[in-house]
Amino acid sequence: MSDSARKLAVIHHRWAEWVPALAVAEPRLDIRGSHPREWESLDPGWLAMAEGLFCWRLPAGLAPRMPHLAWVQNSGAGVDHLVAHPELPMTIPISRADGHFGFWMARYVCCHLLHEPQHVDACAAAQREGTWNPALIPEDLGGKAALVLGFGRIGRQIGRALRSLGMEVTGLVREARSDAEFPLRTVTDVPTLLGSARCLVLSAPSTPATRWMVDAEFLRHGNAALTLINVGRGDLMRIEDLVAALASGQVGRAVLDVFPREPLPSDSPLWHHPKVTVTPHHSGPSTPKNLIPDILDNLHRFAEGRPIEGAVDRVRGY
Ligand code: GLV
Repeated sequence: MSDSARKLAVIHHRWAEWVPALAVAEPRLDIRGSHPREWESLDPGWLAMAEGLFCWRLPAGLAPRMPHLAWVQNSGAGVDHLVAHPELPMTIPISRADGHFGFWMARYVCCHLLHEPQHVDACAAAQREGTWNPALIPEDLGGKAALVLGFGRIGRQIGRALRSLGMEVTGLVREARSDAEFPLRTVTDVPTLLGSARCLVLSAPSTPATRWMVDAEFLRHGNAALTLINVGRGDLMRIEDLVAALASGQVGRAVLDVFPREPLPSDSPLWHHPKVTVTPHHSGPSTPKNLIPDILDNLHRFAEGRPIEGAVDRVRGY
């Protein structure tokens, strides 16, 4: 490793997996890593010279110890925790990467959406009892409406998967635009769309414009058959409003992979709610195999001292 090799700090809970994978992807870099809880164990002199940072969440106190920091690569799609980080100067470009999250999340959404219509639990119970029950006819989702709130690369992939199940998919976006592949409507149309929707998937980023968007007023347009699936961010939706909507039949079932506070606190009513499925923010895992192709160009640019491309808009928030 030459002295002039550019330094990339990898501060990540799975750093031991990421450091070798990034080194293979761009061997010209000087890469060191640590767990976010142990970043202070890295040589402070080395850290002070590092120009790049690969991380998920940014531990407090780290950025001020990296005065040469010139690029932050997030290990995931959502950059809400980075864009507004008070220790990260606005001039530092932040890149996101959604790898193949669209595929992962599409599988997650289909798996959980189909669970009830396919009577998975009832079939398992019948099998345990040795009962052949031909009355367990699956629900026909064909032609039923699915809404996908947030229609970027990930939302589109989810939309394609739901369409392949025979559902009528509409993307919900904040600003009107047309799309060659799917009908898009703005969130102002929620009152007319939600009443007949069978499924609502939240796959929007958390930004000042989307935070707490799914509240009591939004949900009051729902219906008792509606399955609401959140793979976006926990703060898109108010949990107390969801619990009330489940009680009043404005939502039939909720599948939540993300929460306003993670890990989900042990006293949360969601853990034991009969109409709620809780999963541990695993619908779009960041793996080197899926993510590195997305960031490879910027890794090369960084190694060569060229400008990074595709940085997020720090004011817009994604
Ligand atoms: C995961 O939540 C991500 O934003 O990548």
